[in-house]
Amino acid sequence: MTIFLVGFMGCGKSSLGKKLANNLDFNFIDLDDFIEDCEARTIKEIFEIDGEDYFRKLERFYLHKVINNKNIVISVGGGTPCFFDNIHQMNKNGLTIYINMSTKALFNRLKLSNKSRPLIEGMKDIVLKDYINKTIKEREVFYNKSHKIVNGTNLSAKQLQKYCFD
Ligand code: S3P
Repeated sequence: MTIFLVGFMGCGKSSLGKKLANNLDFNFIDLDDFIEDCEARTIKEIFEIDGEDYFRKLERFYLHKVINNKNIVISVGGGTPCFFDNIHQMNKNGLTIYINMSTKALFNRLKLSNKSRPLIEGMKDIVLKDYINKTIKEREVFYNKSHKIVNGTNLSAKQLQKYCFD
């Protein structure tokens, strides 16, 4: 079984994914971490030096490197399902779960997060709120193609596990 966790930046894909994988005795891959390890540079450096379009091609390339793994939870980047036919490929190869969260909750979580995210770096609060509102509307079209949609607010890994097998 291959489980893909998708959702906006800050929705908790990586921390939930790690715990879910642990509970299921599955392997775990965070696609951003995998890209950074394989490329030996950070996502921030890739964006800065080669730009977003190049990053999206790398993201697709590395998604395909891991997509056929079995007994694994894969947390993908917030943009992964929204480019090329990535969501279709993930749907074909495993179970996709969209961790849905309100704009307000995402904003609060992103403010607290210390992960480097080039798309929102340095944004003032008002700009960040607008960005989340606007971008989530565009991206939801893709996120909503996932097999399952779960409410990410106060979601535990145990509850997520239950959703996977319901
Ligand atoms: C991105 C989300 C990031 C990372 C990159 C771009 C996006 O991953 O892939 O900075 O386009 O939403 P997280 O969702 O894990 O922050």
